[in-house]
Amino acid sequence: MGRGLPGCHTLASGRLAAGQLGAFVMRATELQLEPLGLYKAAVSSKEEAWIAVARIDELPDRSSKKFFAVVDGAEEECFLVNYQGRFYAYVNRCCHVPMTLDWVENRFFSADGRYLQCATHGALYLPESGECVAGPPCGKFLQRLPVATADGTVYVAVEQGKRPRQND
Ligand code: FES
Repeated sequence: MGRGLPGCHTLASGRLAAGQLGAFVMRATELQLEPLGLYKAAVSSKEEAWIAVARIDELPDRSSKKFFAVVDGAEEECFLVNYQGRFYAYVNRCCHVPMTLDWVENRFFSADGRYLQCATHGALYLPESGECVAGPPCGKFLQRLPVATADGTVYVAVEQGKRPRQND
């Protein structure tokens, strides 16, 4: 049984085999979820499923991985980041103008590694909350997705029954 990283929501059981990332979707009820706190409140009105987005060991601190998920009925480009050993997932859309944050493909962190930075006008977001702390949309939040880990894998909750395109 793998162990989740500090602060991550740990799934009691996962059944992912190597090579199945992205194609693996299971019902949240089958995962025996531990309490999801704020995350659960955010998705409690929806039927959610969990998709495997990355292996924990493929995302070192301050790295990221993009993926697709269905959010509010629409397929969205999203990204997962590891910040100080914890994982966070957001829709890849700035709160200022609805543009993707990364200018260089899959590069989200500012030069000092402290913030997520929008490439268009430089807005800075806190990786741990998605709150913009500098730039035009200051005070607004990126759209956050629930994250959980199990058996060395990072999962993100998406809307059940609306399968996103195959993630790499
Ligand atoms: S589009 Fe992101 S700061 Fe303007």
